Amino acid sequence: MSGILAGKRILITGVLMESSIAFHTAKLAQEQGAEIILTAFPRPTLTERIAKKLPKPTKVIELDVTNEEHLSRLADLVREELGSLDGVVHSIGFAPQDALGGNFLNTPFESVSTAMHVSAFSLKSLTMACLPLMQEGGSVVGLTFDAQYAWPQYDWMGPAKAALEATSRYLARDLGKQNIRCNLISAGPIGSMAAKSIPGFSDLADVWNHRSPLEWDLSDPEPAGRGVVALLSDWFPKTTGEIIHVDGGLHAIGA
Ligand SMILES: NC(=O)c1ccc[n+]([C@@H]2O[C@H](COP(=O)([O-])OP(=O)(O)OC[C@H]3O[C@@H](n4cnc5c(N)ncnc54)[C@H](O)[C@@H]3O)[C@@H](O)[C@H]2O)c1
Repeated sequence: MSGILAGKRILITGVLMESSIAFHTAKLAQEQGAEIILTAFPRPTLTERIAKKLPKPTKVIELDVTNEEHLSRLADLVREELGSLDGVVHSIGFAPQDALGGNFLNTPFESVSTAMHVSAFSLKSLTMACLPLMQEGGSVVGLTFDAQYAWPQYDWMGPAKAALEATSRYLARDLGKQNIRCNLISAGPIGSMAAKSIPGFSDLADVWNHRSPLEWDLSDPEPAGRGVVALLSDWFPKTTGEIIHVDGGLHAIGA
């Protein structure tokens, strides 16, 4: 099998719908020669149904990143299927409704804590759960939405993404000696389930119609998936703690 991921074994979280960035990542990873395994939340049946649309069959493992039992058994379950891992994709985000859509000043800490746990701390939990399988080094890749700015409607997902971005840098610091890289793709808006759960998401996405140098297609998760696959490959061998924008170039534009 040829391709930039030939011979690589990759664990991919976050396949929920065909609109998931992780679904497109999984498809591209298989096309590029990787053997993959998927994790599923909230139910394996949903992910299994979508996984049938991938080029090749793949095993699905249940994983709630906040569930210690799920995390502690993950390495053994993956080892049975793939033996070891060369890459891990974190494509997970969640915030309760009262943490989104213009309620920033009134959100209770309990909801902020959930957003941080699922969307940021989980990058550390997932990476550590997979660490025993990456003895030869590896590449961890996550997805962010540029946390340098305060966006309309995004509210506490903003601080959660800022925490994710910092967590990625600290993982890069602590895992570099084991030749494990940790990087993020900062994607522009995509009309996935996660995005649709943000009240007023279309107002946020509309910014891209006016300011993105490259034309941006809200319904196309593939560019973000391509970025993830590139970071999983051997073509970024000395890049870690980095955030690469796949946002049409909007981050570079002031007004
Ligand atoms: N859609 C966008 O506009 C956009 C832009 C930039 C970054 N992102 C990020 O991309 C990533 C993937 O999102 P998406 O847009 O593909 O949406 P999505 O809804 O398809 O994916 C979100 C995933 O998070 C998973 N998840 C939620 N809670 C979980 C838990 N407790 N344990 C394990 N998994 C859990 C869901 O199962 C789902 O698969 C997220 O980190 C998101 O913040 C999305």
